[in-house]
Amino acid sequence: KVADLTRRLKAAQQKGACLLATNFYNYETLCGVLQAAAQMKQAIILQLTESSINYMGLQVAVNMGRSALEQYGVEGWLHLDHGGSVELVARALDAGFDSVMIDASEKSLEENIAITAQVVAMARPYNVNVEAELGYVAKLGQAADKVAFTDPEEARFFVERTGVHALAVAIGSAHGFYKEEPALDLERLSEIHAATDAALVLHGGSGIPGNILQEAMRRGICKLNLATEIKNIFMSTLKKDMQNNAGIDLRETFPPAITAVRDLVKSKLQLLAAG
Ligand code: 13P
Ligand code: ZN
Ligand code: NA
Repeated sequence: KVADLTRRLKAAQQKGACLLATNFYNYETLCGVLQAAAQMKQAIILQLTESSINYMGLQVAVNMGRSALEQYGVEGWLHLDHGGSVELVARALDAGFDSVMIDASEKSLEENIAITAQVVAMARPYNVNVEAELGYVAKLGQAADKVAFTDPEEARFFVERTGVHALAVAIGSAHGFYKEEPALDLERLSEIHAATDAALVLHGGSGIPGNILQEAMRRGICKLNLATEIKNIFMSTLKKDMQNNAGIDLRETFPPAITAVRDLVKSKLQLLAAG
């Protein structure tokens, strides 16, 4: 049995299409993302990191994501982003996530394989999509010298050994914004795509120009992760708005920031649809 999201990612990959995976942090960012998906009539992957889960509480975060998808009539999936331990993955599976990422990319290849294979086995009864990372995409604010690009032959070996469905690749993107325009190693991406039939995931989506994203889609990227641009537009809109707003009605405070998130996510969805 193939998990629903795995099937969708592979189908997208075959067409050179890509699903957008957006992180959410609270009700308001979730709302902006879903308004965008509803207006664009496109599916969306809703991602939660461990810190967002800790902030909202696991069950509240999951229920909020599910209810919002239903309320907006949007097709979507709940995904654990950068799951740092087998324990956290187990909690996410029990809480009803459709997809989980186990991120053992900082460990040795052998350890990464062992932990990822363990998660794939653990996830099988739940019939969910499993993502892992091979190579290393720099975390927020980390120096570029931590980066290790994904090797195509290693990718083939890794996917065969672990049975993982989706693979996060390190091809020159990084989490957060970029000081200079990122130079993605698209040649390497094509080689990874040729070496394995796993769904390929691009982390660090914020700050990558649209034409490069579209080229990456043509070369096998079928899930694009977006976080920093959402946080940034939400907070900068909120701060600007609060300077000339003395009101205390929360329900009038957040809508401009929600709308800003909506418009950002709409533009990304448009870009992916046009790719
Ligand atoms: P950005 O913060 O660069 O958008 O990266 C998001 C991401 O990769 C989440 O897993
Ligand atoms: Zn990431
Ligand atoms: Na980025």
